[in-house]
Amino acid sequence: MTLRAILGTFFHAPQQGALEALTDTLIEIDATGTIAAVIGADDPAQPAAITRYGDALLRLPEGRYILPGLVDLHVHAPQYPQLGQALDEPLEVWLQKYTFPLEARYADLDFARPRYTALVEDLLANGTTTALYFATQHTEATKLLADICIDKGQRALVGKVVMDDPAACPEFYRDASPEAAIAGTRAVIDHIRSHPANADARVLPVITPRFIPSCTDEALSALGQLAAECDCHVQTHCSESDWAHGHVLNRYGHTDAQALDSFGLLTRKSVLAHSNFLTDADMDRLVARQSAVAHCALSNIYFANAVFPLRRALEKHLHVGLGTDISGGPSASMFEACRTTVQASRLLQDGVDPTLPAANRGTPGSAIDLKTAFHLATAGGGIALDLPIGIFAPGYRFDALVIDTSAPSGSIRLFGETQPDAVFEKILYGASRANIEQVWVDGRLTGSTR
Ligand code: GUN
Ligand code: FE
Repeated sequence: MTLRAILGTFFHAPQQGALEALTDTLIEIDATGTIAAVIGADDPAQPAAITRYGDALLRLPEGRYILPGLVDLHVHAPQYPQLGQALDEPLEVWLQKYTFPLEARYADLDFARPRYTALVEDLLANGTTTALYFATQHTEATKLLADICIDKGQRALVGKVVMDDPAACPEFYRDASPEAAIAGTRAVIDHIRSHPANADARVLPVITPRFIPSCTDEALSALGQLAAECDCHVQTHCSESDWAHGHVLNRYGHTDAQALDSFGLLTRKSVLAHSNFLTDADMDRLVARQSAVAHCALSNIYFANAVFPLRRALEKHLHVGLGTDISGGPSASMFEACRTTVQASRLLQDGVDPTLPAANRGTPGSAIDLKTAFHLATAGGGIALDLPIGIFAPGYRFDALVIDTSAPSGSIRLFGETQPDAVFEKILYGASRANIEQVWVDGRLTGSTR
């Protein structure tokens, strides 16, 4: 079903810390899925527009609220079967013991297909209309993930993972050489860009060095050149944990962000996952390059030995969005990512060691409010990716979810609340999959959601 006009109450957050409620508003959508007009309840043009659309107008019933589609800036697609498992080891052990053996199995497309299909369907049902995916090292399975996203109608950015360093990657799961890694990356870019069902470029290719510790310098510099040549998005992990951060410092004598920059991998369309140990100078460098951070608050609790200093980053005007980091974070819900973002920031602000005096325990000024977390999960993701998504305004794509606050099997209970702030808070803290009634991408309804 393709949508031309929808009437209801919309919540969005174009700015940090503020919610805008568009009550009884009509949004017109053009044939390409772009918002053509936003017509408010007190706009004299609204009655005529309602009449003009007639039966083509979707009027949402009582209890429904429309949010911008959620943007997940960091997903390891092949790790979905491992979601909610294997959280007992530190990153460097977890990769070798659980994750590389699982990812290696995606060489088999019959193994990959049902797992990637379930992931894309589930993320859409959870309200994730845009996902930035790490696939695996395999070229063919990465093409398959892109095909599934195209078929299911999810906005997605898909990258073949480059991991070519024999010192760090097991023989059963690595690129045969830097040249092979670049050839595979090029093949995936060409596949996605020339796909006959992707003429509107809803799915985009991404240059994806896994992280510096798994790549040779040859591969990293060739990928930097390719990013410039192809004008592609770039994604990688940056300064995630003490171990990962220390590895890069040892190898180059400077930080991850400096090293990535030296390889040409910090661009306007780069997204660095985690980035917990960024220095002030690293943050300034990212701001200068207009690169973004994917803040993965839940995964950071398990693997990072730190909380990302989000408030400090936002004060520097660093681009930040939120990510689940499936399966480093054991939840596939971006609502959960918002909640954990708020929770982790409170722990950073107040500290956690009760043996210390309260005044010395935390990092004052670190707290993030729910509206800012929601802004980051929607508009912030759009800014990070340089895509017109995440808010309801003319020129933006109509990517949206309809929340049914009265779904009997849902987890939101309203007792007469109608104030936008109250309803919004209940939705953000309470919504689960059963509350997500419809999911729209580019004005098209995606698969069944409950
Ligand atoms: N660093 C390199 N690979 C990974 C991964 O798969 N997950 C996380 N959390 N960090 C990584
Ligand atoms: Fe990750």
